[in-house]
Amino acid sequence: MKILITGGLGYIGSHVTVLLIQNGYEVVCIDNLVNTSLSVLDGITSITNKKPYFEDIDVCDTKKLKELFNKHSDISGVIHFAAFKAVGESVNDPLKYYENNIGGLIKILKYTVDKSIPFIFSSSCTVYGEADELPITEEAPLKKANSPYGNTKKIGESIVEDCCAAFKDFNAILLRYFNPIGAHESSKIGESPQGIPQNIIPFLTQAVAGKQSHLKVFGSNYNTSDGTCIRDYIHIMDLAQAHIDSLNYLIEAKNSNSCEVYNVGTGNGVSVLELIKAFEKATGEKVPYELSEPRSGDTVAAYADPKKINKKIGWVAKHTLEEALQSAWNWEVSLNSDT
Ligand code: WQD
Repeated sequence: MKILITGGLGYIGSHVTVLLIQNGYEVVCIDNLVNTSLSVLDGITSITNKKPYFEDIDVCDTKKLKELFNKHSDISGVIHFAAFKAVGESVNDPLKYYENNIGGLIKILKYTVDKSIPFIFSSSCTVYGEADELPITEEAPLKKANSPYGNTKKIGESIVEDCCAAFKDFNAILLRYFNPIGAHESSKIGESPQGIPQNIIPFLTQAVAGKQSHLKVFGSNYNTSDGTCIRDYIHIMDLAQAHIDSLNYLIEAKNSNSCEVYNVGTGNGVSVLELIKAFEKATGEKVPYELSEPRSGDTVAAYADPKKINKKIGWVAKHTLEEALQSAWNWEVSLNSDT
């Protein structure tokens, strides 16, 4: 079976591409390479011993997309990742985010909805904002997004939902990711942020590697167990597996609704200080850090109730936090040994 993966050379996309190949799928991978590089394709090829079909295509490029769907008229599933994801940048340049993330989604859907191709949409726990109750279930009300990036995920969900309602045989799953971290066990692919990392794990590993002076812990007086923010950190390979399981579930028509939404998280809430301790325990490395001012717009606490995906799709997170952190550190070490 042939699966189209957009943004297939990105952080999450590359790990999903590996698992698709290893699960016997034929992969058509597209990426416009603005936030990644062709070396990721080499990493995927080296892990799987199979080079996936790849084209440098922007999902907003209607002409190229049309040619792609004509050439691959036998695509039987789409996993859509291609999107910009820098929260801060989206605040300064909202139109860039709406044009790319919403425009790209609409263009991909145009080739998908009337052919009834199963569709997986990459959403985010950011749609819940500061939830009233923890852990967060899929029934929790969606809050006003605190960035244009977050809003593109909320709007994207509605667009996919509306298409499921309008096109009788179109089925989709919206996956709301919590915080993906870590890398493939081979250290041949991982997270490669451009410039100064905004997310905690790449920043932390760079601080340990001496590329940053120290990690700033954003806020230490929150109303949490130790005053720092709480998140649900999920191993990237567990997150990738959730896509394979969701795709199989749709292909086997096990869904009861045409559009289903699932949290993808471990269910464990971990504070920033607990994360640092867990990293030190897993790797034996010392994390240079200092307590610092809160980051504006940060959610205080968010962790998933993953029971729905556990029960309906049969997916559970299998890796421990320590394994995820060790893999993130191995990846950082491998990057430094290349240079
Ligand atoms: C995690 C924790 C920070 C950096 C991001 C996206 C969001 C979403 C999930 C994606 C927070 C703290 C961070 C640092 C720190 N989904 N921190 N020092 O904020 O949960 O959200 O991932 O699509 O949209 O923005 O992730 O990794 O930035 O932060 O103390 O240098 O680490 O305050 O508590 P976040 P993050």
